[in-house]
Amino acid sequence: MGYTIICAQERHLDELLELDKQCFSVPWIREQFLYCLDQATIDCFAAVDEEDGAVLGYAILGHVLDEGSLDNIAVAPSHRREGIAAALLDRALRRAAELSLAFVTLEVRQSNAPAIALYGKFGFVPVGKRKGYYEKPREDAVLMTLFLK
Ligand code: COA
Repeated sequence: MGYTIICAQERHLDELLELDKQCFSVPWIREQFLYCLDQATIDCFAAVDEEDGAVLGYAILGHVLDEGSLDNIAVAPSHRREGIAAALLDRALRRAAELSLAFVTLEVRQSNAPAIALYGKFGFVPVGKRKGYYEKPREDAVLMTLFLK
């Protein structure tokens, strides 16, 4: 099955909410997605099925001045290990380059080996920890940064 990366729009909102519920113990609420979709300083990318337009994954890149943050990335459980997250991250990092960002930073649960491997593959390096950052379950966050300049 093929997919394509597009800029997410408000019409994708219900699917984004459903996807997030499948992917996170504390999923985002409607207002969080709406806020991201509405902001010029936030880019929301979606991977959609080429045939029926279903949302298979998404990534969110925020930017202020020359600083970027990967605020979220998720792929539907039924479509993992198909290269979708890598395609989304590649798109987000091309946008970061267009914006001449100096770095992109992110937080990730320290037990989230798949995500840490994904970020490592793209050159993100661990730069610190945030103690007890996550809940459900309570866990430290690893802070990772990709230096672009
Ligand atoms: N174990 C180890 N490495 C993994 C992995 C796994 N289960 N899944 C992905 N990776 C790493 C590998 O380096 C992989 O490259 P490779 O295929 O050459 O080995 C790379 O990520 C790209 O894989 P891809 O197929 O694009 O990832 P994906 O589409 O399955 O999505 C996540 C990866 C992390 C986004 C997905 O597992 C997910 O949605 N998890 C739940 C939400 C989440 O934790 N998001 C991150 C929040 S910080």
